[in-house]
Amino acid sequence: MKIPMVDVLAGYSGIKDEVETAVRTVMNKGNFILGEEVAGFESEFAALNGSKYAVGVANGTDALRLSIVACGIRPGDEIITTPFTFIATTETISQSGAVPVFADIEPDTYNLDPRSVEKKITSRTRAVIPVHLYGHPADMDALAALAKKRALRVIEDCAQSFTAQYQAAGKEWKFTGAIGDCGAFSFFPAKNLGAFGDGGLVATDDPKIAEELKALRNHGSKVRYLHETEGFNSRLDTIQAAILSVKLKHVLKWTEMRNAVAAKYRAALKDVCAPAVVRSGCRHSFNYYTVRFKSKAARDAAQKHLSDNGIANQIYYPVALHQQPAYGRLGYKKGDLPVCEQAQDEVFSLPMYPELSDEQIRTVTDAVKEAVLIK
Ligand SMILES: Cc1ncc(COP(=O)(O)O)c(C=O)c1O
Repeated sequence: MKIPMVDVLAGYSGIKDEVETAVRTVMNKGNFILGEEVAGFESEFAALNGSKYAVGVANGTDALRLSIVACGIRPGDEIITTPFTFIATTETISQSGAVPVFADIEPDTYNLDPRSVEKKITSRTRAVIPVHLYGHPADMDALAALAKKRALRVIEDCAQSFTAQYQAAGKEWKFTGAIGDCGAFSFFPAKNLGAFGDGGLVATDDPKIAEELKALRNHGSKVRYLHETEGFNSRLDTIQAAILSVKLKHVLKWTEMRNAVAAKYRAALKDVCAPAVVRSGCRHSFNYYTVRFKSKAARDAAQKHLSDNGIANQIYYPVALHQQPAYGRLGYKKGDLPVCEQAQDEVFSLPMYPELSDEQIRTVTDAVKEAVLIK
């Protein structure tokens, strides 16, 4: 049985009529750029996420890019982030003229380790970008305390974490992206809330940042043809916003279904390899389900066995950013971020989407068990 990593159309039949009506409505109105559906989706998203403002943009990369500018980052500033992420997190830092500074990660959640972050703070540090990797919230309590002490901005990379929740000690549960200064979301089709193309959004509680983001996404213009600053062409398409509004109503249920798949993976694999952890005070969105093996050889053998049997799998991420040629100029060497360097050799992710059947889940977990036995 062939099993894909993600099946973006698996849940489509249940929402097809509503999606097609929403798209047809926009096509009949012709309000393709910043039509009322964009503002409608923004307020629905903000309400669900518990954020005061939400600003739709063209994709998750731009959500980070515009957040960095709106948070007042300037050329030469340093931003501390994780090397165990997709390059969008850091190319947007460099492209703003700032310098990405890599801190190490925690061995169980693979998220930024606040103790390593603290050691990397200099007089030029202006911000920290935690990535809620795979959908597990980063240690926001510790990062927020550091940010407060050192007057840093916090931009959450929520590309993989929409609907994940976090509870700071003694406080109420919050959705990721409603904790730092900005939360940057991606609606790439494979995300928990996926568009039919590219899309992104920034959530914030700060009215000034929201105002600035709205200008930045539209060439720096608040009033037509008047530009206080230069900006970008980075608007969320009206058609995508209309589709996202329909899908938003189902997203919490889909995350529950992902968590049910994760529970079955965990039950079957807990004695075979290290299953995904969910720390207390965290609710996972399971955009990816990542397991860990005892060695690179064991991981590589398991990966090969799954691939040979038609079961998709993927290493997120095989080469950490501090070891990528694109960042050779920053001068990191092997051994600088040892927790991350070991993790990239020992993890891979299994197929994960809400509609995975029990039979598919059993096929995947049987294959992982066989691989470990063969080894
Ligand atoms: C952690 C992370 N950040 C940022 C992005 C960028 O999002 P987009 O592809 O919508 O530009 C992604 C997308 O895969 C991601 O995984």
